[in-house]
Amino acid sequence: MAKSSEITLLFFIVCISSSFSFAQELTPNKFTVVGHVYCDTCRVEHETKLSEPIIGATVKLVCNNQTDNTPIFQTPEIMTGAKGEFRIHAPGEYENSACDVNLMKSPRQDCNEPVESLSKSRVVLTTNNAAKEGVTRIIPCANNLGFKRKEALPECKQALPELKKEAAP
Ligand SMILES: *[C@@H]1O[C@H](CO)[C@@H](O)[C@H](O)[C@H]1NC(C)=O
Repeated sequence: MAKSSEITLLFFIVCISSSFSFAQELTPNKFTVVGHVYCDTCRVEHETKLSEPIIGATVKLVCNNQTDNTPIFQTPEIMTGAKGEFRIHAPGEYENSACDVNLMKSPRQDCNEPVESLSKSRVVLTTNNAAKEGVTRIIPCANNLGFKRKEALPECKQALPELKKEAAP
């Protein structure tokens, strides 16, 4: 008797959890944009092995109409996690629009200098090519985003050959 009630209970749990994941699949998140924010510790305006993740930086997804440049969709500011990573959910399709992830704020006083080329990343959020309905697609940012450190770390010259070359007479 105890066995069969356990089995019934198990059956219920399986049913509930599977209907739960079904419901999640149908949430209107069509796209999840992923990327990370780093500190350009060597002031070279690209990511290096000495770059550090910035925790608690904020980013924002903005889609503008490509014809008249008016905003179509934007998210609130979203904070980066322990590895500087972010995930931004976009509920719709933005076919004739230009969508960018914009870098907003750095929580680090020593690393908050904006760099134009590291402040934005273009993302394409369309399902033109036979994407399945109700499935969230993961869209990696074209480039990761970063702030420049106020001063380059002393170890940068040793670690990066391109800086050694520049320093040579
Ligand atoms: C974009 O702007 C044009 C011109 O104002 C308009 O005709 C079009 O419907 C807009 N598209 C979207 C997706 O809002």
